[in-house]
Amino acid sequence: SAVKHGCDHVFFVGFLGAGKSTLARNLGRMFHRRFVDTDRLVERRCGSTVTKLFEEFGEERFRELETAALEGLRGERSLLVSCGGGIVETPRNIELMHDMGFCVYLDGDLDDSLRQIRRSDTRPDFRSAEHAARLLEHRRPLYEQAADLTVDIRGTSFTDVSYTVAELL
Ligand code: S3P
Repeated sequence: SAVKHGCDHVFFVGFLGAGKSTLARNLGRMFHRRFVDTDRLVERRCGSTVTKLFEEFGEERFRELETAALEGLRGERSLLVSCGGGIVETPRNIELMHDMGFCVYLDGDLDDSLRQIRRSDTRPDFRSAEHAARLLEHRRPLYEQAADLTVDIRGTSFTDVSYTVAELL
């Protein structure tokens, strides 16, 4: 992938439950590249969890912390970065990803996400399917704006998605 400003990260964006972290972690193992997840970076920096941060400080503050975590990757090289599903809500984040590397959009169906949401309570207001559906429709153009490559993961095996993305590494 092209080295820009000294970085050549690959960012994975997509709605909650699209499998960003799983794919990035496994590709990191396969290709011996370090894997980071922006939610985990925020949690480590704040000593709290994403859910608590939303509850205690609200989404606006969480988005500031998310951008700070992304900015913090400037000094690193060749990372695989799994990004929280809402990272594209902040225009600056799209600029940062384009500055620091290559962005892959894992484009999946809502039901992939709903299954994931029902299993975890990453964010209380995700619990309603209607809310998630509206949010995904609001975000789809943002994911597409961010994406240097869109991978349709509907009915695509993890292996096939891995091979598609591996060509970037
Ligand atoms: C969010 C998705 C979550 C996490 C936070 C906000 C969103 O990340 O960043 O709950 O706004 O879609 P995952 O997509 O990794 O669950």
